[in-house]
Amino acid sequence: MKKLGIIGASGHGKVVADIAKKMGCYQEIVFFDDNADRVQCGDYPVAGKSQDIFHFECDGFVAIGNALVRQRLQEEMEKRGIHVPVLIHPAAVVAEDVQILPGTAIMAGAVINPGSVIGKGCIVNTCASVDHDNVLEDYVHVAVGAHIAGTVQIGHHTWVGAGATVSNNINICANCMIGAGTVVCKSIVEEGTYVGVPARKK
Ligand SMILES: CC(C)(COP(=O)(O)OP(=O)(O)OC[C@H]1O[C@@H](n2cnc3c(N)ncnc32)[C@H](O)[C@@H]1OP(=O)(O)O)[C@@H](O)C(=O)NCCC(=O)NCCS
Repeated sequence: MKKLGIIGASGHGKVVADIAKKMGCYQEIVFFDDNADRVQCGDYPVAGKSQDIFHFECDGFVAIGNALVRQRLQEEMEKRGIHVPVLIHPAAVVAEDVQILPGTAIMAGAVINPGSVIGKGCIVNTCASVDHDNVLEDYVHVAVGAHIAGTVQIGHHTWVGAGATVSNNINICANCMIGAGTVVCKSIVEEGTYVGVPARKK
């Protein structure tokens, strides 16, 4: 029987579990969370704290929004031999040649076009689009309804907020926060928080 352990019994975790269920490759899904008040996540039980996953024979997935925490836990799983899958909602549209690395979740309605490479532990959230020939480095989050045009590179740990738009042929460096609704039309070379139309450093 194939089991999936998900660290992070939050709203995001609930969405990740729904994807795993719809993919049909796990017979059992359980959560792990360090917050002892969380005993259930949607229809699934919380079986213990995050470290308890290492005593449970299962694949593992980190469903935590904070990119550094996501990275730390995923790397620990990988080091300890836990298989970390890629989770793709059946209603996402992903071109055949797209490369997606372990620990990435692609939500419902997302579109990823040809030539794109999606790193480890990324989130391409509900109805977000990542057009052709993009590179999302590890632990990038493209939030709900954000749109990335063609030939864009986004550095590791950068979060593109809900409904933001990134024009084509742009690079955004690592560790940036692009605010909700922001329009990025020039490359960003300095880490920080950017908001507005056009994007300005906050
Ligand atoms: C950019 C962001 C991180 C800033 O958060 P913050 O540092 O707590 O900023 P504050 O809410 O204190 O706002 C500070 C100022 O920036 C402005 N601001 C904040 N976010 C903004 C945005 N996205 N676009 C334009 N202006 C914004 C505020 O209006 C405020 O302006 P004021 O000083 O004139 O009143 C946050 O607002 C944001 O956009 N988060 C993204 C959330 C998201 O996409 N979630 C998706 C989950 S899937």
